[in-house]
Amino acid sequence: ERVALAFSGGLDTTVCVGLLEEEYGYDEVIGVTVDVGQPEEEFEEAEETAEALDVETHVVDAREEFATLCLDSLKANATYQGYPLGTAMARPVIANAILETAIENDCDAVAHGCTGKGNDQLRFEAVWRDSDLDVIAPVRELELTREWEMQYAEEHDLPVQSGNDGDWSIDTNLWSRSVEGADLEKPDYVPPEDIYEWTDAPGDADGTELVEIEFEDGEPVALDTVGETPTSPQPPAGDGDDLGPVELIEYLNELAGAYGVGRTDMMEDRMLGLKVRENYEHPAATVLLNAHEALEGLVLTQEEREFKSQIDQQWSKKAYQGLIDAPLVGALEGFIEETQSRVTGTVTIKLEGGSARAVGRESEYAAYSEDAASFNTETVEGQGITQKDATGVAKYHGFQGRLANSVVDGVDED
Ligand code: ARG
Ligand code: SIN
Repeated sequence: ERVALAFSGGLDTTVCVGLLEEEYGYDEVIGVTVDVGQPEEEFEEAEETAEALDVETHVVDAREEFATLCLDSLKANATYQGYPLGTAMARPVIANAILETAIENDCDAVAHGCTGKGNDQLRFEAVWRDSDLDVIAPVRELELTREWEMQYAEEHDLPVQSGNDGDWSIDTNLWSRSVEGADLEKPDYVPPEDIYEWTDAPGDADGTELVEIEFEDGEPVALDTVGETPTSPQPPAGDGDDLGPVELIEYLNELAGAYGVGRTDMMEDRMLGLKVRENYEHPAATVLLNAHEALEGLVLTQEEREFKSQIDQQWSKKAYQGLIDAPLVGALEGFIEETQSRVTGTVTIKLEGGSARAVGRESEYAAYSEDAASFNTETVEGQGITQKDATGVAKYHGFQGRLANSVVDGVDED
């Protein structure tokens, strides 16, 4: 009997290898690592750990697929309670890649090292339970704690990191980096600066930078720095035109990370209902989300924006749940796509001391009339509307409320 394990080389999955043999009786464990943009060292560590454990590993490159999904999520301005959903969106991609590898390698089961407290178990299993393979979750099923795992690792001489990095549970992909566990679980614990790897302290950033981001149908297609700070890295491939999705995200992570952009320290309401302290960093996502929303602000009507924010929230919730294949999502995307046909144009973002603010936007679809909005013009071209026309509107504005209040006053006097 063979089992394919979602393998990262971290503490949970390292401990799982032994347990799948000892406690579950599998003859062979194969480790599957899916590349969604983790740093190089993670693969090296996973490889070393796998060698020490004598397990065969497979690495599946899903970066392009994942990056495309991340950029698509911009169309829904996708965030959950302020977090841009990197871990959440990576899970179905990872789960599918593991399932395919498991089937190709004649495995009877698939396993993950997620706890019974988190979201990831649900996201992995939503994909896996659509197959005939057995699903194993050793950490949850054997009710392991991180302390128990550390002791097990020590007793079995397993290669796991020591120090802070070993205490923290870190999940990294192109879109976000999450750090949790140990003292970081406490809502009142002020995290040390060294939990961050992608972002410099916002106060340390020198100067400012302007980035121009060009969107077509809601998707970022090109970017350019306007170059206020000469030391900033230049976009790869000349002007940054026609960057692939992976390169675009990596570049913006580096550029905006240097300005301390994209830190989120939050209480997250998990799917099981638990409130959990989470720390994330996601510079590229913050820049792109802010830019996309600024462009929508220029081209969409007020009522479209208002309605779309509800649609976006529903889309984000399904993404958080790891259920982007649900029929509802397809239906929501029908609406979203319809609106994105006008989300074409360019936004200028200013990077400065931890923030990525839209400071300029332009589009041929701008639902904006200078005549109508400016204090310096008298009429709206072609509509024959003048300032005085608002007098009637002003007389009616609030009329019903004034009437209702006066009726109450009258009744109270009686
Ligand atoms: N709670 C987050 C989510 O549900 C991320 C958890 C990431 N895992 C980790 N071990 N840091 O998307
Ligand atoms: C875990 O519980 O294994 C990680 C955190 C999560 O899934 O939310």
